[in-house]
Amino acid sequence: MPESKVIFSDTIPVEDFLRLRAEVKWAELPVEQAQAGLDHTFAGVAAILDGEVVGMARVLWDGCYCAFLTDVIVTEKCRHNGIATAMVQRLIDRLRAEKKEGWKIKLYLMAGHGRESFYQRFGFNTRPQGEEGAGMNMWL
Ligand SMILES: CC(C)(COP(=O)(O)OP(=O)(O)OC[C@H]1O[C@@H](n2cnc3c(N)ncnc32)[C@H](O)[C@@H]1OP(=O)(O)O)[C@@H](O)C(=O)NCCC(=O)NCCS
Repeated sequence: MPESKVIFSDTIPVEDFLRLRAEVKWAELPVEQAQAGLDHTFAGVAAILDGEVVGMARVLWDGCYCAFLTDVIVTEKCRHNGIATAMVQRLIDRLRAEKKEGWKIKLYLMAGHGRESFYQRFGFNTRPQGEEGAGMNMWL
């Protein structure tokens, strides 16, 4: 990775959102749907290197106890420089700052295969565990 410093922005431009998703071969989305998703994001982060968005992550939150971390991607040439770690930590801090006295927020994610250890460092637990079954999902 070039030596220039990575900066972080709270805004993820839709074209970069779609470009990074395409790079890692995640499901294609129409621009209108992608923009709607970004508009409904509680907190997003884009990592920018020399004017180029090289990473992103976002958190959805219902304002109550359910939050979901998703779209954590760093472009291949910039990996292993701590960018994803910095983005995820920033989002966790943003969410934690919303907690009022007595509040609890549960932050969920669906780890990609083999990515669990990346998230465990932040305190995420893998499932199934104890009374908690495996995470589940479906496409509609
Ligand atoms: C996963 C991903 C976001 C990590 O980005 P990154 O900026 O390289 O991550 P960091 O540099 O902050 O990683 C710090 C440490 O986390 C761990 N880590 C990083 N990528 C990992 C992976 N793919 N699997 C397991 N652990 C990983 C390593 O210990 C790493 O330290 P190292 O770089 O010295 O090996 C990036 O590989 C990526 O975009 N992958 C494709 C998309 C994807 O799978 N996203 C996550 C979906 S759950």
